[in-house]
Amino acid sequence: MTTTYPGVDEASPGSRTPLLSVRDLRVTFGRRGQTGFRAVDGVSFDISPGEVIGLVGESGSGKSVTSMAIMGLLPTRGVRVEGEALYDGRNLLDLSQRELCRVRGSQLAMVFQDPMSSLNPVVTVGTQVTEVLHAHQKLSRADAKAEAIDLLRRCGIPDPGRRFGEYPHQLSGGMRQRALIATALACKPKLLICDEPTTALDVTIQAQVLELLAELVSSLGTAMVMITHDLGVVAGLCDRVNVMYAGRIVEQAPRRELFAHPRHRYTEGLLNSIPRLDGDRDEPLHPIPGTPRDTIGWEKACAFAPRCRHATDECLRPDLELRQLAPHHDVRCVHPAGAASSGATGGASAAGRSPEPPKERS
Ligand SMILES: Nc1ncnc2c1ncn2[C@@H]1O[C@H](COP(=O)(O)OP(=O)(O)OP(=O)(O)O)[C@@H](O)[C@H]1O
Ligand code: SF4
Ligand SMILES: [Mg+2]
Repeated sequence: MTTTYPGVDEASPGSRTPLLSVRDLRVTFGRRGQTGFRAVDGVSFDISPGEVIGLVGESGSGKSVTSMAIMGLLPTRGVRVEGEALYDGRNLLDLSQRELCRVRGSQLAMVFQDPMSSLNPVVTVGTQVTEVLHAHQKLSRADAKAEAIDLLRRCGIPDPGRRFGEYPHQLSGGMRQRALIATALACKPKLLICDEPTTALDVTIQAQVLELLAELVSSLGTAMVMITHDLGVVAGLCDRVNVMYAGRIVEQAPRRELFAHPRHRYTEGLLNSIPRLDGDRDEPLHPIPGTPRDTIGWEKACAFAPRCRHATDECLRPDLELRQLAPHHDVRCVHPAGAASSGATGGASAAGRSPEPPKERS
């Protein structure tokens, strides 16, 4: 019998040349003489031009540290970053701050959760966008202004000519996030990393900003890493998803495959914990028991074991490997959902709880 995997683009990801290839990324925080805290532990993923990948996981799972390490934004003291982030044939982790500055802004850009802490409060929005244009393109003052206003307009800012001269505090939260996106896109980045860009926004503005990002990514062919703990965002936007737990990727799959057949018990729990609008009001919710603090070091066992109702002694083994369970679908779990031997029903029930059936991006 041939198994088909809905949503799997068989031509990707393996056949396309990755724009960024992250290999065995490890980030350790600590002071000399003390055992360090490994916040990111062997993360590997690829992203191709025009692709959107999701980095999903609970608070503290290492999503932001992963992106900050790739962008060279972690402090240099007290942090050890190891592994590779190969971009255009160069390991970003080996570049000097000067070389990194050149790449950041001209080819790589990042949008953070809180626009107020990313935009300069004492510089007008227009100047912040034109500064980026000046830094990377030889434009006259008038041309830079015209291009900045056009960018603000394309990012959905009404009356961009007036907003150009305003300060961040004069804009609403949603407007500020759009201004920040405009600043990030001013250099036409090849890779955009968005770290929870809509978490601070109300849901209608959130939807508009996500739509804007999807449009810009497809029109400019930008590759995008979307960091979020919101599976609804993933369902609407991402091509592929990496689920992180306690610093490691525990499941990697194309988006449709992940929602239809979640295999890792943590992913299954995440999907099961989403309340259904069409469900019975008396139906109990199914939260994942415990908190992310209830963990074991990966060097001893599966870090999710203290919270997993499928855990057995077999899960208490060091350094569980990611293994491939379907095309492009890798899982770090001894008893994955849907496996004949696990006797689990989780895959089907979890799929029934996905936020919305994933739609194709145009
Ligand atoms: N500068 C730092 N020094 C020490 N530990 C840090 C530092 N920055 C982050 N950490 C720790 O690294 C771990 C991963 O943090 P990270 O910010 O990547 O989590 P996250 O997945 O982005 O969570 P959230 O969804 O809350 O943003 C956490 O335990 C955090 O406390
Ligand atoms: S390896 Fe074991 S403890 Fe970890 S998620 Fe899978 S079943 Fe649960
Ligand atoms: Mg974060």
